[in-house]
Amino acid sequence: MTKKLFVKTYGCQMNVYDSARMADVLAAHGYASVETPEEADLVILNTCHIREKAAEKVYSELGRLNRIKQARSSEGRRMMLAVSGCVGQAEGGELLRRAPFVDLVMGPQNYHRLPDLLRRAETRGVVDTEFPVESKFDHLPEARTGTAADNGVSAFLTIQEGCDRFCTFCVVPYTRGAEYSRPVTDVENEARRLIDLGAREITLLGQNVNAYHGAQRGGEFSLADLIRQLAELPGLERLRYTTSHPRDLSADLIAAHGDVAVLMPFLHLPVQSGSDRVLKAMNRQHTADHYRHLIGELRKARPDIALSSDFIVGFPGESKAEFEATLELARDVDYAQAFSFKYSPRPGTPAAEQGDQVPDGIKSERLDALQAVLARSQAAFNATMVGRTLPVLFERPGRHANQLLGRSPYGQWVHADMPGDYRGRIADILITEAHTNSLAGQAAAAANPGLAMAQAAGVAEGPPA
Ligand code: SAH
Ligand code: SF4
Ligand code: F3S
Repeated sequence: MTKKLFVKTYGCQMNVYDSARMADVLAAHGYASVETPEEADLVILNTCHIREKAAEKVYSELGRLNRIKQARSSEGRRMMLAVSGCVGQAEGGELLRRAPFVDLVMGPQNYHRLPDLLRRAETRGVVDTEFPVESKFDHLPEARTGTAADNGVSAFLTIQEGCDRFCTFCVVPYTRGAEYSRPVTDVENEARRLIDLGAREITLLGQNVNAYHGAQRGGEFSLADLIRQLAELPGLERLRYTTSHPRDLSADLIAAHGDVAVLMPFLHLPVQSGSDRVLKAMNRQHTADHYRHLIGELRKARPDIALSSDFIVGFPGESKAEFEATLELARDVDYAQAFSFKYSPRPGTPAAEQGDQVPDGIKSERLDALQAVLARSQAAFNATMVGRTLPVLFERPGRHANQLLGRSPYGQWVHADMPGDYRGRIADILITEAHTNSLAGQAAAAANPGLAMAQAAGVAEGPPA
């Protein structure tokens, strides 16, 4: 009999990828995915530990799920409740003590053991936060779903996991473990499979993806080597990668942005702070000027590259002047988009132990000031798109009939009314409106039907560039 599975995902894209792979493992054991926890025989919360708020959400969600579980149980039906991901790894047995109605707690490296863990969890609570010697990637079944957020057009592919950088604010090295790169053939096989399943764009994922060094015939491939190889795969139109660390941004990767056509002109390169003193205290191992230099090199290689970053405000000891250095860097780089957060002390990380924590009120003020600068840059960037024709890869239906939603090369969402089902296809779109988080446009041919007909008949030159 088919069992029903509901997975709720928090956190980064790597969790999105992992959730899809857990669904794949369980599909091989008779589970089919459903849309709500109420119908599910098994609910998995795939969690994030990065900031306190993210972790606390898990407990409130668990309370809600426990009520559903009790209601089902009074009807004589069992609902198994599992917690996976970074909160599972960080809290382990403590989570079972706080929420004894949970059946299974596991860390991100153990998903290939899911069927076995579930069997054991039928009789008593089970915790598996061991870092196994074998890699989950070698033991998970082949990808069956597009491993994309909610469609098969743009797919995620984890190529690197874990982190050895130990930034002093960050839990990832503890929750995901040591850095590990998947061998090149594995990545290539999975990419081929995703393309067969309909993917036209692949985003290569890793906590520190540009530290990738995958085994390849007795040697090693860098991320740039891997990108050059994947770029040759028939059917693959777009490649992206995330997240990168400035210290691991090599010259060959910068060069790839200049000459690999399928590599999209967008890079998320988190800087965190514009102050050298703070960067040092964060153990980021580079200066603000080194970061500016990298941005300059990237723009030399690919002049239209759109840049994105993460920022933390209110790191312990951050002075007003140090925060202003962050504002200055944000203005200088002029980001196309960015994420910014108030520093959140995380148990077990060095920065959380520091005595000079910044009061929350100051953190909030700084966050507002930074977000105002970032929002201005983003709006200005989006505004420059109006009047341009961009190749848009359509992914899914929009809110209205005939409307489709796709992405520009720079990663912006674009809405357009399309004359047919363009999902999975790239079309030239004339951008007519810029909003805060998206663009709107129309099919370039539809925008100027006379010209399109003339071009088709071969009697007109294209519009001046
Ligand atoms: N590997 C990525 C970041 C992963 S976490 C990198 O090195 O850039 C995503 C973002 O969350 C980080 O870039 C950082 O800006 C933010 N973050 C991580 N720990 C945090 C903390 N303790 N408080 C606030 N923000 C944090
Ligand atoms: Fe965390 Fe730093 Fe590693 Fe990124 S590089 S995952 S911020 S420790
Ligand atoms: Fe969160 Fe873990 Fe990703 S802490 S950001 S889910 S690596």
